[in-house]
Amino acid sequence: MKEINLPQRLTLANTPTPVQRYEFEGAQFFMKRDDMTGMETSGNKIRKLEFLLADAIRKRADVVITCGGEQSNHARATAAACAMLGLQCKLYLWGEKRANPVGNLFLNEMFGAEMEFVNKKDYLLIDEKIPAIIAKYKAKGLNAYYIPEGGSSPLGILGYLESFSECAYLLRKDKIKGIVTAAGSGGTAAGLLLASALFNVPVKVFAVNVLYPKEVMIDKILALAESALAILNLPVNIDTAKLEVLDGYSEEGYKAISPAKIQVIKKFARETGVLLDPVYTGKAFYAYKEQFLKGKKSSNIMFLHTGGLYGVFPKVKEYLGK
Ligand SMILES: Cc1ncc(COP(=O)(O)O)c(C=O)c1O
Repeated sequence: MKEINLPQRLTLANTPTPVQRYEFEGAQFFMKRDDMTGMETSGNKIRKLEFLLADAIRKRADVVITCGGEQSNHARATAAACAMLGLQCKLYLWGEKRANPVGNLFLNEMFGAEMEFVNKKDYLLIDEKIPAIIAKYKAKGLNAYYIPEGGSSPLGILGYLESFSECAYLLRKDKIKGIVTAAGSGGTAAGLLLASALFNVPVKVFAVNVLYPKEVMIDKILALAESALAILNLPVNIDTAKLEVLDGYSEEGYKAISPAKIQVIKKFARETGVLLDPVYTGKAFYAYKEQFLKGKKSSNIMFLHTGGLYGVFPKVKEYLGK
């Protein structure tokens, strides 16, 4: 296969992240620890930001604008990375201003990001409003660079090629048949799907949709994978059959978490010392347990821990059952 020529990127993440072996409810499995990509920048998003912020700097940005839910891990990682790079950061967050910000909101403040809170209706229109927002910055002599929700642009998802390549050898050697990941904007799953085609490793990508309905999620992931492949201009085909969305594991809503899932998160934390977040990995792990661990001695499906731990703090009461 032709060499993969990636666009320029920054080195911001602590990589490679480890793949560790765990046992839960009698079943053994591998977990890739992308929650360990950094401290302030922990989680999957920093891999995408390595490409996106390199592009922002190349385009001489003064301000980086992005958006997400109130407890967005992507927004927090962007705020932290901007502070590292001396860039201003503006966040549009779906939620309300809090008197006592906790979790990611607190960290955004610590990193000096400017936050603007919007309701869901306005949040869904952000992409359309961005040109006018950028023009306002321009009028003030500032060059603004926009990163879409979750860092999931064709450029951003190239960050997941490296995560995949870090475990490609193990996936082949141990005949791992799939990877389970939480899916919000879909970029992580899209990056994994593209990587499995590029590296010719026959694994399925199981995406647990926490935000968008199944059909929307499938379309988003496939479109992202195709548009990232177009950047690379390589002669491979993305096999749509390699993508499966595990639907029905976020019925409590994006920002909520059901007591049944909290029970699993707690049990897993107590037995392994690994914490899962309420919005993404807690739901994805629940799906993983139901689909691939139940009654089995080992699972040849890997779980990707994508981080999100600061999102635990606004949910302390729920986690403790109070
Ligand atoms: C902790 C965590 N896991 C998973 C995801 C989902 O990743 P993606 O938006 O690339 O689908 C996100 C962000 O949305 C996240 O913050």
